[in-house]
Amino acid sequence: MKILIINGPNLNLLGVREPSIYGSRGFESYLDELRKTYPNVDIEYFQSNHEGSIIDEIHRVGFSYDGIVLNAGAYTHTSVAIADAISAVTTPVVEVHISNVHRREEFRHHSYLSAVCMGVICGFGLNSYRLGVEAIIDNNNKTK
Ligand code: DQA
Repeated sequence: MKILIINGPNLNLLGVREPSIYGSRGFESYLDELRKTYPNVDIEYFQSNHEGSIIDEIHRVGFSYDGIVLNAGAYTHTSVAIADAISAVTTPVVEVHISNVHRREEFRHHSYLSAVCMGVICGFGLNSYRLGVEAIIDNNNKTK
């Protein structure tokens, strides 16, 4: 199984950025743990602060991988272009957020991505990514 985790803008600063909201753990150390939890799953990771690069990455894997776990950061609330990229590919995408966006500012309550994703997970800290991986594994087992 091949899964790609994509982190969008400002998520390269996890561990440093607003720790009261996003926690104090860096993503790389979390990723090591996640890979150990799923030794039979190939978990790739990509982070970019640029909308077009995220779209290119969705196109690159979107017809061959088993799933994408996407935290598009603030682009979640602004990007029709990322939503179109998700619609264009066949690989299922799970939208994830570290924080519970519905408990935060109103502009974070709307996502352009949710309607074109397989599902949404938010508010479980870094565990949101593990739950996203679980959802893809589950979906993969069902479609076999
Ligand atoms: C986020 C929530 C977004 O509203 C915010 O812009 C982020 C991170 C989250 O993981 O909680 O950058 O996607």
